[in-house]
Order: sequence, then C-alpha cells, then structure tokens
Amino acid sequence: MTIQKVLLRYEPEKKNILPAIKAVNEDSGWVSEEAVGKIARYFGVSEAHVFGVASFYDEINTKNLAQLIIEVCDSANCQTKNADKIIKSVESFFRIKEGDSNRKFSLKRMSCVGRCLEGPVIRLNGTIYTKTTSDKAIKLIQEYLGLDY
Ligand code: FES
Repeated sequence: MTIQKVLLRYEPEKKNILPAIKAVNEDSGWVSEEAVGKIARYFGVSEAHVFGVASFYDEINTKNLAQLIIEVCDSANCQTKNADKIIKSVESFFRIKEGDSNRKFSLKRMSCVGRCLEGPVIRLNGTIYTKTTSDKAIKLIQEYLGLDY
C-alpha cells in the first residue's frame, strides 16, 4: 500500500499523527525519510516533529531493517533494457511488491548510477550488478539470502 493510501485513513488532525506513523510503520516495515516528509506535509507539521515522534517509540523503525535492500535502476537506459521486467520477476518470485519492505526484503527503484552502458543495473545492499536479467537477479538475491528455492 502506498504511504498516501495509509494516510488517507486518517483525518489530518494532530491527534492522528502517531496512529498514522504506526500504520505506515506496520505497512512498510519502517518509516523512511520519504514517509516522514509525506506525513509532515499531510498533517501540516515539520519533518522534525514527525521524526521526533517516530524515533521516540521503540516499536517504530526509523531505519530499514530488511536483511536485503534490492534496488533496480529505472532511469532511461536501464528502462529500455527491461528494468521493469526484472522488477516484475522479483516481485512475483519472492512475493513482494515494489516499494514494500519487510524483515527480509526491501524492493525499490533507484536513479541512474552511471553504469548505463552495462544495464540493466541492480544494487543489492549497496553492491552494483550489471547486465542483469530476471534470472540473474533472482539467483543473486537467493545467494544473498542463502535461500534454496
Ligand atoms: S540508466 Fe541505469 S545505470 Fe544509468
């Protein structure tokens, strides 16, 4: 679910800030900087205020605790080389949705990292892999997680 959809469940009143932060945390597995910004704008408060509330509670994660952060470049060159197909394959194989995060995975798009000629490019926990196919991405992710599918 998108952050916006989660927020729309709450009236934009100050008393709903904490419940909304908790809902975003539950839905995404954590409260990202992007989420803090969206929550702040929705409730008309500062990002510092939202972050202050979020970081006060132990049960709210302000850091991504996923074991593996999967990023797929979606800038022009990688797009023309089937970046979307890689995202769909990873979503389907590991039953995760783009933008979601849980304890095992976080899957998201990233901007160009300057390896355009070697695309499509993915990044797994900060390590860049080039000339990726759907099969290669799935195999790399399995290796990272020590999974035997
Ligand atoms: S477009 Fe993907 S690395 Fe540049």
